[in-house]
Amino acid sequence: MSEHPAPPHPPAGGPDGAAPEPGAEADPAARAFRDLLRGLRVWDHDLPSFDPAAAPDEPLPLFRQWLREAAEAGQPEPQTMTLATADAAGDPNVRTVMLHDADERGWHFATHRGSRKGRELAVRPRAALGFYWPAVGRQVRVRGPVAEAGPTESAADLHRRSPGALAAALVGRQSEVLGSVEELARASDAAWERARQEPDAPVPSWTLYVLRPEEVEFFQGDARRRHVRLDYRREDGRWTRDLLWP
Ligand SMILES: Cc1cc2nc3c(=O)[nH]c(=O)nc-3n(C[C@H](O)[C@H](O)[C@H](O)COP(=O)(O)O)c2cc1C
Repeated sequence: MSEHPAPPHPPAGGPDGAAPEPGAEADPAARAFRDLLRGLRVWDHDLPSFDPAAAPDEPLPLFRQWLREAAEAGQPEPQTMTLATADAAGDPNVRTVMLHDADERGWHFATHRGSRKGRELAVRPRAALGFYWPAVGRQVRVRGPVAEAGPTESAADLHRRSPGALAAALVGRQSEVLGSVEELARASDAAWERARQEPDAPVPSWTLYVLRPEEVEFFQGDARRRHVRLDYRREDGRWTRDLLWP
């Protein structure tokens, strides 16, 4: 559903009433892009209902149920999530990673310890995760401290995954500057070959992390914008929950 009808003419000024930059409004590409954004819709198909009064006492069963329902509704790649970290100065950063598991310990994901996110987690071991499943109009946010699972569990997790996952991990050097695409092609070919010959090849930098949830918020979108938000918080080892204004 479009948020606002497109105005007949471009606005006369910037957001604070300042004059537009010279030439900006005459740029047909800029105008077409704005029109595209205004024409895109959200929450315009049948969405499931969510009764927060019937929600479980803890967030984990509800999260598992919502992920399964997203997959069943045809949501592509519902196991992908946004991982937010912050650097030593507190500057935020995000990227997409895979969810490897969610259990009583927390939400599991894996990456190279030397990557940007790995270095950020080393200095500031806290993170937030975001899931958005448009097929069911649902969003989940998870926040809390992050701990490394240790080398044995990290290796076992990697070697349970696909040969492609192992090959990608063997390439290594994640987030370093790459000299050329040819250099990557050579390293990738060598990594695929090694993954084929040595399915248990070690990748010492590959690390499984577990985010222990302190807060988990569930958001059910609604066509009339009467979105339902249920926020679980862990206090003194027990979960409490509140509804939030949308
Ligand atoms: C769908 C998708 C799944 C991804 N899964 C992972 C993952 O599980 N682990 C990982 O290290 N990078 C994954 N990536 C790549 C990251 O988004 C990111 O580009 C990379 O990890 C470097 O991030 P950093 O520089 O912030 O450390 C994935 C990317 C996409 C688009």
